[in-house]
Order: sequence, then structure tokens, then C-alpha cells
Amino acid sequence: MSLTEQESLLLQKAKKASQNAYAPYSSFHVGAAILTDRGNIYESANIENASYSLTICAERNAAAKAVFQNDLNFILIAIYVDSDKIFPPCGACRQFLAEFTPNVTIIYGNKNQLIKTNLGELLPSQFQLNEKR
Ligand code: THU
Repeated sequence: MSLTEQESLLLQKAKKASQNAYAPYSSFHVGAAILTDRGNIYESANIENASYSLTICAERNAAAKAVFQNDLNFILIAIYVDSDKIFPPCGACRQFLAEFTPNVTIIYGNKNQLIKTNLGELLPSQFQLNEKR
């Protein structure tokens, strides 16, 4: 798939971020990078916990960083996993991201594969209380 310059830059940042994952249990090192409409990029990685359900996904961590800066309008999200498998954002992350940008473009992949989609496709019929968004 051909990527725009912006998309490949974001994917590179997600790949780099995956190196900072704390994933001793699954060994899935996931990195995410989010570009906002202010032109800022927020990166993060997954952080696991011995109490497994406390694990925080890479994209949710990155989104939290953006939201903390009141940078709420995401334009593009890249997710990279250092594995032979690839996976789209988990259900919890889809809902978390939908709070801010219901139809944000998402690219996810590994060193061999890449998929481009958007949140509307991944999470149709979204639960929203905030009608302004
Ligand atoms: N993971 C993410 O970081 N993002 C997702 O959307 C799916 C799963 C992480 C959580 C956990 O550390 C590992 O991948 C395996 O589930």
C-alpha cells in the first residue's frame, strides 16, 4: 500500500515507540503515534501489568497524552506491532478514541503488512453522549 509522507512518518514514530513497550507477559511490543489538527504528534506504547486486565494499550496511552494537552482532534493514528501478527485497535480503544474523533484514519501494521482504515469502519453505531463531537 502506498503511504503519504505524513503516514510513513507517523508509522516510523509508532515503530520507534514500540521499543519502549513494557510487555513482559505477552511480548507484543506495540507502539502508537497520533497526529492532531494542531500538528502535534503524541507517541506511546503498551504497558502491561501482572494483574493482566490493568494493561494499557499503546493507542489509549498516546490518546491520553494528547487529551492531557487539550489536543482533542486526532487526524491520523498509526499503530505498529513488533510481531508477525497484526491487529486492529481493541474494542476498548475504539470506544476510547471515538470519544474524541469518531472517524479518525487509522493505519496499523508490522514490518510486513499494513492496513489503512478508519474508526467509523472499525466501530459503527458509536455510543456517544457528547452530541457536539
Ligand atoms: N495491545 C495494544 O497495545 N493495542 C491494542 O489495540 C491491542 C492490544 C497490547 C495490549 C497487550 O499489552 C498486548 O498488546 C497483547 O494484548
